[in-house]
Amino acid sequence: MSDLFVSSEPVPPWDEVMADAMGCTRCRLSEGRTNVVWGVGRRDADLMFVGEGPGHDEDVKGEPFVGRAGQLLTRLIEGIGLSRDDVYIANVVKCRPPNNRDPQPDEIEACSPFLRAQVAHVGPKVLMTLGNFATKQLLGTTEGITKIRGREFPFRDGDAVLIPTFHPAAVLRGRGDALAHMRADFVLAKRAMRRHAGASDA
Ligand code: URA
Repeated sequence: MSDLFVSSEPVPPWDEVMADAMGCTRCRLSEGRTNVVWGVGRRDADLMFVGEGPGHDEDVKGEPFVGRAGQLLTRLIEGIGLSRDDVYIANVVKCRPPNNRDPQPDEIEACSPFLRAQVAHVGPKVLMTLGNFATKQLLGTTEGITKIRGREFPFRDGDAVLIPTFHPAAVLRGRGDALAHMRADFVLAKRAMRRHAGASDA
C-alpha cells in the first residue's frame, strides 16, 4: 500500500478539505489552472475511481472525466448497471498539468492530503485505479498496468479492494485489447462490490 494511506494523521472534515483544495496554491499547477477539479459523485459510494489529473475539458468544466476518456468511462460504468451518480470519481492531482504532462513528485505530494481525505470519507468497498499512474500512486507498486490489471488487492485494512484497470485514454489511443480488458475488470469490480455488501457473488 502506498504511503498515502498509512498516515496516522486524522482526516479533517470533507467541507474543510474541499475548501482548502479550492483555494490551494501549494504547487505550481495552481498557476495554470482554470478550475480546481475536486471530484464528483456520491460521497458514500461503494465504487470509486481515481485517474491521473484533469485534462483540458476537465480544467474548463471543473469536473473530472468529462472529455472523450470520461465519456468512455461513463459508458463502462453504465455497462455494469450503474451511473456516474452512483460512484465517486477523483484524480491524483486536482489541477491540470501543463500540456497534460505527468504530475511531478512534489505536485503529487502537495495534493495527496486531498485524495487521502476523499478516500477516507467516501470509504469505497472497491477502488478502481485508472491507468499506470494512479495505480502506482495508490498501490505503491512499480509493476506496469498490463501485468497488474484485473486483480484484486486488499485495501483499507482489508475492508475494501483495489482493482487496477487501464486508463480509458488507452482505448482511445487504439490499444486494441484494452476495452475488452476494461469491461472484464468492471465486471470483477461489480462482483467485489456484491461480495463486500454481503450478497452472493454472482
Ligand atoms: N484523465 C484523467 O486521468 N483524469 C481526468 O479527469 C480526465 C482525463
